[in-house]
Amino acid sequence: MTQLRLDPDRIVKFLQTKTLGREIVRLDSVDSTNSECKRRSSEKEGLLVLSEEQTAGRGRFGRTWASPKGKGIWMSLLLKPDLPLPNIPQLTLVGAAAVYRGLEKEADYFSGQIKIKWPNDIWISNKKIGGILTEMQTGAGSVQSVILGIGLNINLAKEDFPPELRTAATSLFLEKGELFEREIIIANILNEFERFYLEFLVQRKLGEALTVCRENSAVIGKKVKVSDQEMGIEARVIDLGPQGELLVKMNNGKLASIISGEISLQIQG
Ligand code: BTN
Repeated sequence: MTQLRLDPDRIVKFLQTKTLGREIVRLDSVDSTNSECKRRSSEKEGLLVLSEEQTAGRGRFGRTWASPKGKGIWMSLLLKPDLPLPNIPQLTLVGAAAVYRGLEKEADYFSGQIKIKWPNDIWISNKKIGGILTEMQTGAGSVQSVILGIGLNINLAKEDFPPELRTAATSLFLEKGELFEREIIIANILNEFERFYLEFLVQRKLGEALTVCRENSAVIGKKVKVSDQEMGIEARVIDLGPQGELLVKMNNGKLASIISGEISLQIQG
């Protein structure tokens, strides 16, 4: 079942969406599904690009994303939101909430253990199981398209991870000792994403997606180091603000709000 090639018809069978995933491109191999989606960005909103493997999968900050064949969900969604540029990073939180719900629905065994590490990591048992990479194309000062890439370690065994990731990363298979059907998880994520996305577009507020990110946050209450390219500060995370920004109290007692952008976050305790 699970080691077979991804079957788009089976995804469609579980889809309840209007637009997302109604056009699916399934590939055996590609450099990166985000790059492929970008090459197809003249196509309609909702296009889903899936690949069994990525030869140049990438994460945030130009990191490599290990994407072995047939073992994970390596997918990208083409979005054409009517949103101003500053709202685009919030789509990562919409994606994180959808992944959370999609996983929770299929794997209730993990209930209470799935956490969102703001803004884009999904964790189980304190290890990274997935991540989201949001990229956009702009033109004439406005957003032309957004590519939301989701990587999820589903059926990877220990040896499928590069040695340097084996302690920090995990998969559903490693956590439960069972193989999972990728198609159902993909459909669950798209179903959840479309609801949250439409709410966000109509109300320009994160709404339920924000509640999911808050209630299942890996960082609220934690001491963290917040870094950009130049410097890092230590702080305690107080909450997520209404726009999904991170609200922190710095060591000097001052409050600050941080929007995701090029920020990385390390949990310190
Ligand atoms: C991160 O945690 O840094 C984000 C990882 C995002 C990985 C996914 S896999 C599908 C899509 N294609 C890519 O090249 N990256 C994203």
